[in-house]
Amino acid sequence: MEFEGRVALVTGGNRGIGMEIAHTLARVGVAVGVHYRAAEEMAQDVVAAIQKAGGRAMAVRGDIRDRGEAAAVVAAVTNAYGPVDILVNNARQLGVKKKFLELSWSDYEPQFDVIVKGAFNCCQAVLPSMIERGRGGRVINMLSTITEEPSWRWHAYGAAKGALLQMTRHLAAEMGPHNITVNMVSPGFTRTVDRQTPHGDEYLQDVLAHIPMGRFVRPDEVAKAVAFLASDQASFITGANLPLSGGKVMN
Ligand SMILES: NC(=O)c1ccc[n+]([C@@H]2O[C@H](COP(=O)([O-])OP(=O)(O)OC[C@H]3O[C@@H](n4cnc5c(N)ncnc54)[C@H](OP(=O)(O)O)[C@@H]3O)[C@@H](O)[C@H]2O)c1
Repeated sequence: MEFEGRVALVTGGNRGIGMEIAHTLARVGVAVGVHYRAAEEMAQDVVAAIQKAGGRAMAVRGDIRDRGEAAAVVAAVTNAYGPVDILVNNARQLGVKKKFLELSWSDYEPQFDVIVKGAFNCCQAVLPSMIERGRGGRVINMLSTITEEPSWRWHAYGAAKGALLQMTRHLAAEMGPHNITVNMVSPGFTRTVDRQTPHGDEYLQDVLAHIPMGRFVRPDEVAKAVAFLASDQASFITGANLPLSGGKVMN
């Protein structure tokens, strides 16, 4: 089995889409570090469910904005299961919705701190051992269709995801010779079990009306796309951004 013996770290794996990714990878035999920042109980619940289903998982806490904490997260997973083969940069900071002239840099900065700096710190912690072992590896960054759908609603979040998109491409180019692929998955609006959506019904109906497939993506569909990019089947795909938009956004 291609995933047997592999190790993954999923940031923000305690809830929402990250939780689905953790479950999906664990089901195919990957040992999963279920990372969280504050909600420990949720992470422990995910771990317990994975273990009950016969999988391997551990909860690991850390604020990935801090380089030392990101390194400690990676070290904890490595100590338990061995070096990380698959890094999923999924954690995010919820943003404010303000028009540009109402924004201050203090609205922008938290988005960049988690989405860009967090992914930067986790990549820096994981890549040295991936390179040194010479067995290749997978980095998958969670983006959003928002990078292709500019709107005042997403100034800070969209700008941070856009920066992550460009960071992903540069890293994919640099990591190619090491057989480490670096890709992106971009869902549209995704209803998750544990978070109330901040969007009003009218806004969501308008979004829905523009989705050719006529529905929102499910978290398990996002997780399957991540598992595909983590698999051997995606061995020659790097620097790619896979939209899960039901046709709303096309590459
Ligand atoms: N949901 C959607 O509609 C949607 C659409 C497109 C793209 N996405 C992307 O998909 C990913 C998952 O979305 P989601 O809605 O499932 O996420 P979510 O429910 O908002 O969860 C965010 C996660 O990030 C963690 N986190 C926040 N700040 C952190 C920090 N400083 N250090 C470490 N971890 C931190 C949280 O940990 P705690 O719980 O411990 O605080 C939580 O696990 C995100 O990258 C998001 O941008 C989501």
